Amino acid sequence: MSLPASPSESLARWRHDRFGMSLHFGLYSVAARGEWVRSTERLTDAEYQTYFDRFNPEPGWAVEWARLAKAAGARYAVLTTKHHDGFCLFDSALTEFKSTNTPARRDLVREWVEAVRAEGLAVGLYYSLVDWHHPDCPATGDRQHPLRHHPDSPARDAKCDWSRYVAYLHGQLIELCTNYGRIDSLVVDFSYWDYAGEKWGATEIQKKLRALQPWLLLNDRWGNEPRKKIPRPAYAGDYEQTEQNIPREGLRDDAGQPMPWEGWFTLTNSWCFSATDHAWKSPAAIIRALVNCVSKDGNLLLNVSPDARGRVPAPARRILAEIGEWLALNEDSIRGAGPAAFAKPEWGRFTQKGDTLYAHLTEPVIGNISLQGLRGRVRDGRLLANNAAVLITDFWNPGVQTFDAPDDIFFNFASPTACTFPLPDERDTVVAFTLNDDAATAAERARLDAARAASIADRRPF
Ligand code: GLC
Repeated sequence: MSLPASPSESLARWRHDRFGMSLHFGLYSVAARGEWVRSTERLTDAEYQTYFDRFNPEPGWAVEWARLAKAAGARYAVLTTKHHDGFCLFDSALTEFKSTNTPARRDLVREWVEAVRAEGLAVGLYYSLVDWHHPDCPATGDRQHPLRHHPDSPARDAKCDWSRYVAYLHGQLIELCTNYGRIDSLVVDFSYWDYAGEKWGATEIQKKLRALQPWLLLNDRWGNEPRKKIPRPAYAGDYEQTEQNIPREGLRDDAGQPMPWEGWFTLTNSWCFSATDHAWKSPAAIIRALVNCVSKDGNLLLNVSPDARGRVPAPARRILAEIGEWLALNEDSIRGAGPAAFAKPEWGRFTQKGDTLYAHLTEPVIGNISLQGLRGRVRDGRLLANNAAVLITDFWNPGVQTFDAPDDIFFNFASPTACTFPLPDERDTVVAFTLNDDAATAAERARLDAARAASIADRRPF
């Protein structure tokens, strides 16, 4: 596939790929108690310096993570180049607060970009608009600045010059889009209060970045106005992000147009490496969340973070490998797939791509498995993982069955079809069906109905 040349082509590729991975990596990885640690514990620059002095990820970390992301089935990978603490993982000419000045003495963004590109994944860079280190960002009265209650802050804030910060912000984004070759997407974080939109000089900098990287995909956090509102501001970005949440249905703007979106989730309950958070989500939970997103026309961005050495935590390695194994077998139901034209089934979800309907079974079903409203519509049922045929069938005893299901058809993994067979994959068993067009559906329904009537007349089970 040739590389996208415009934001809309990037968006199309991103929507096709459906699954990405993000990493939070920085000085807070050494603290290992949350990337907000500077804010929550109100640490001064001097107190936070201890993590700077100890930041020294092992060489090769980026290659390891890029391979892991690829093996997990991610098609794009996003790294925090600067989080709210202001620490830069790149060799910015505009600050000394950067990885090249830590014991690591290396540009980690360069290592990351090269490793991700080598795996053929799209390169995503996260950049925090918020900055708790920069002297031109006011602290007093701010909602989250670490120095918000510090007695020296009013004097410090008196010297703040917002235009200097905006120049810094723009300068760094230009560095990121100039010094590292092709960047596929930029994920900014976050807007609040009046720190939003043009306060960041959003329209102007987006224009400059797109002049450097004409295909650059942008997320929605440049502003904080209701995203659905029409007209959307010029800096609105290309897609929406939900955080630790999957919407009930896909997202639509106030004009009813579908909005591309991505659910962003952590593999534990933390964004960065935490020494005490062992709440690992199971592979099944992630697989089902991915299917949930795709069934609503969304993507899933899974965040997994390195420890202070840059290593992959052992549980993450195991979970990601299992997700990748499932995805490799069931990829057709995810990549390039989206919502189905049919209501959510009782036992799981549907996704659809062209005339293929993918039934994702996540709940064990007893007896025949129903396809409600799909009588005559489906043919050629097969297990996506191994192409084994499944049986499409009517009631096993149409004359005796006491409830009426004129629009339904059933399937099962083996016969007798009234029996119960364990799900071949408890995480999510995917059955692919080919969809009949209207004419073929009418013909198939007529055939099924005639067979059902004959069976009733004969009092003979199928
Ligand atoms: C929130 C948090 C931040 C995290 C981000 C990821 O905005 O502030 O720490 O990086 O979510 O979506």
